[in-house]
Amino acid sequence: MNVLLIGSGGREHALAWAIAESPMLDTLFVAPGNGGMSSLATCVALDVADHAAVLRFCEDHRIGFVVIGPEAPLVAGLADDLAAAGIAAFGPGRKAAQLEGSKGFTKDLCAAHGIPTAAFARFDNPGHAKAYVARHPLPLVVKADGLAAGKGVTIAETREEAERAIDACFGGAFGAAGAEVVIEEFLTGEEASYFALTDGETILPLATAQDHKRVFDGDKGPNTGGMGAYSPAPVMTEAMCQRTLEEIVRPTVAAMAERGTPYRGVLYAGLMITSEGPKLIEYNVRFGDPECQVLMPRLEDRGALLEALLATAQGGLADVRLDWRDEVALTVVMATKGYPGTYAKGSAIRGLDAAGRDPMVQIFHAGTRRDGSEIRANGGRVLNVTALGASVAEAKARAYEAVEKIDWPDGFWRTDIGWRALAREEAA
Ligand code: AMP
Ligand code: GLY
Repeated sequence: MNVLLIGSGGREHALAWAIAESPMLDTLFVAPGNGGMSSLATCVALDVADHAAVLRFCEDHRIGFVVIGPEAPLVAGLADDLAAAGIAAFGPGRKAAQLEGSKGFTKDLCAAHGIPTAAFARFDNPGHAKAYVARHPLPLVVKADGLAAGKGVTIAETREEAERAIDACFGGAFGAAGAEVVIEEFLTGEEASYFALTDGETILPLATAQDHKRVFDGDKGPNTGGMGAYSPAPVMTEAMCQRTLEEIVRPTVAAMAERGTPYRGVLYAGLMITSEGPKLIEYNVRFGDPECQVLMPRLEDRGALLEALLATAQGGLADVRLDWRDEVALTVVMATKGYPGTYAKGSAIRGLDAAGRDPMVQIFHAGTRRDGSEIRANGGRVLNVTALGASVAEAKARAYEAVEKIDWPDGFWRTDIGWRALAREEAA
């Protein structure tokens, strides 16, 4: 089978790395891909927002299955257009992708089905939103309803901050994504991510992870797409995973089926583990980035992934099993100096072969391009240096050992990825 993978980040490199092992695979194409994937797949310059062009490419290259990595094409209905042309796709259709595409949609679904989440209200005008802020205790969380590339959330400690966030949303700071606003109660606890595949009926839990969103050590500085991650998340004990499945994920999958918009794909539940148990912060309708980079190395048999993704899309997940290694996986994101602000592109990165020689180390490219025999930085988050280990301490040491071998004067990284899990491990 020929497979087309959509996306260009470290998540897609990790997915390509697993898909490439499948005995079902003939040729793997990635659109647009990046500099690290060329040994695994053929990178093609396709405009994925142009669905007709994607369909034409699929016909021309006899693509039997399309794996959609990022959320934007899912929310834009790429899976629906592929299905209409008779091409199977991994990832939900436009209506089911509302679980990520509209925070208000998900909050209403939680309210209707008793799914634990922060108390909330939805607004389509600033006056009512500000009146709500005046009546509720701080801090409050103000969110643009739609996709805002992770930038649409403000944790307001003061009423002025909340009002500024409301004005920014309705003033167009996030474009159409801010036409509606959700205001939530602030939850306290530890955050964790839970991943499951579902074909609309059967749910196959995958694994858990935690990431570090702030740019600097000690979880300081501005938010980023994620500076590192590890799997499993120690806070997600078996009991906590079971509660998440039964109280959050299963009722969601049932509700989506009941509405006639069954959810088929990976469901990534962003959770707050509170004193009362797991509460849903948000859903994502795709794998996390960089969380995917710590899930894939923990697969016992990477070659089984493609079949599981196909069963997710076509039904039949009940017959699929994925086994997970007990080892911890930990990834360190190497970013271009200046990220998440402005940064230069094009600096040369050397030493990747030596750094990746350890079989327990995998270097996923997130934002690179190939320039002859050189690899050059081509984005903010550039490399995901990932290692497996028998413990958090071992995975962390191995990952940083590899980081130190990479010669990239224009890069920086956090030195404390996994600190919370490491502290837990040391205390145990
Ligand atoms: P989201 O884009 O909804 O995941 O929000 C981004 C981040 O804001 C989350 O990862 C949390 O750290 C934080 N956050 C969002 N909603 C809440 C909430 N209700 N209470 C506390 N923190 C929140
Ligand atoms: N790492 C967070 C995300 O993928 O949304």
